[in-house]
Amino acid sequence: MSLFRTKPITSSTADTGMRRDLTAFNLTMLGIGAIIGAGIFVLTGVSAATQTGPAIVLSFVVAGVGCACAALAYAELAASIGGCGSAYGYGYAGFGELPGWVIGWMLIAEYAIAVSAVSVGWSGYFNSLLQSFGMGMPHSLLHGPFDATPGIINLPAVGIVVALVFLLASGAKVSARANEVMVYIKLAAIALFIGVALFHINPANWSPFIPPAEVVTAAGGVATSVLDMKLIELIGGGGEATRFGVAGIFGGAAIIFFAYLGFDAVSTSAEETKNPQRDLPIGIIGSLVICTVLYIIVSGLLTGIVSYKELNVPSPVAHALLSIGQNWAAGMISIGAIAGLTTVCLVMYYGLTRLLFAIARDGLLPSSLATLSEKSRSPVRIIYITGAIMVFMSGFVSLGNLASLTNFATLAAFVVVCGGVILLRRKRPDLPRPFKTPGYPFIPLLGIVVCAYLMLNLSVTTWIAFVVWMTLGLAVYFGYSYSHSVLAQQK
Ligand code: ALA
Repeated sequence: MSLFRTKPITSSTADTGMRRDLTAFNLTMLGIGAIIGAGIFVLTGVSAATQTGPAIVLSFVVAGVGCACAALAYAELAASIGGCGSAYGYGYAGFGELPGWVIGWMLIAEYAIAVSAVSVGWSGYFNSLLQSFGMGMPHSLLHGPFDATPGIINLPAVGIVVALVFLLASGAKVSARANEVMVYIKLAAIALFIGVALFHINPANWSPFIPPAEVVTAAGGVATSVLDMKLIELIGGGGEATRFGVAGIFGGAAIIFFAYLGFDAVSTSAEETKNPQRDLPIGIIGSLVICTVLYIIVSGLLTGIVSYKELNVPSPVAHALLSIGQNWAAGMISIGAIAGLTTVCLVMYYGLTRLLFAIARDGLLPSSLATLSEKSRSPVRIIYITGAIMVFMSGFVSLGNLASLTNFATLAAFVVVCGGVILLRRKRPDLPRPFKTPGYPFIPLLGIVVCAYLMLNLSVTTWIAFVVWMTLGLAVYFGYSYSHSVLAQQK
């Protein structure tokens, strides 16, 4: 039964030695910093071209509904339980140690892979900016040795992660300020896109709005093996991979779900927030609402100015502007995308360090890691160690399919967080809840259904990667964490 020993719930305002600097505004900006990035600047085009057509807008609505339910659940738990471990901490206090660890292990995958994958996307945009000044980098310095087109190292990706290591080590407030400046730049780029695109819509591009479903053949160049199929096609469909049609909307939603990732990272800052009970719900829900509205507008305009068939390119937003002859605007979008991808890496990395700090403080990882720097009050050992690992991943490893493991892990965590709201309301009705999820129990239940359904829409490869990652996590738990847990020592 000690696998289900629970951590006592301490108030989210308890003193933990970290500096309480962040405000509701900082948190909203952190949320937008983590959310708008590779998802909208890269994946939207790929999904529209290969899964949904103009109905990508509906995919954004579906994924947005799942995220909104999860955000409300996060807001309730963050305000009442707090702790910088986010969903890991809620799971530990609500369900017990092993479930808490499992959620924590999923979130480690979400944050670490997102940072590495997005840093590689950053490198692509950075190089295209250099090229526009006639100074592109050689291929060997833009790809790792295990990429489809091998090189020696991905130097810009390594460079951005190293820069973020030093930024984060200088403290949460400094990082939050740098984040804010870059968030303004990326919001300006998106506003520019909307402003220009509005005047170049060709309604014919929206027809058919939902292209008819088609079976993907080897000639279609997408799914050719069982591994590439969605799990739902394998277990429920006719055993064939399909795209477009109504099912494509959900397939697309499972991919562009990536665009919404990050608002949950806000909840890892509970211990550095001035008034967490009020500010966390504002930061989490506020950033998600702003980004959802922007995504629906941008994806609608994108498929309105060019045919969705043309959008399967690495930088679809810039590409669409180029194809309507707005070259200057396309250049500005690249700068906005670079700023955007930088803040995604920064906030996801921040979330990772705060999560690991909470796990180490509970003894489930070596507690010597949970040391704060005298000066910046930030967990520098964790920042340096995880930085070294991510530098390696960004520079040398081919991440490819692993990126959708990020979606999987996050969807799974969202299911647990929504379930956690229901469980805790039953188990601890007495707990003070400064923020309550409206529409209880309908909203958390809807969150569980939507997120679980999107998980079924991810590929068989992703499910296998997840099983491998979880097996590793359980090995660490039983080999180390179970006996070193602070709760175990107290017995
Ligand atoms: N939401 C983040 C992005 O789109 C992870 O890059």
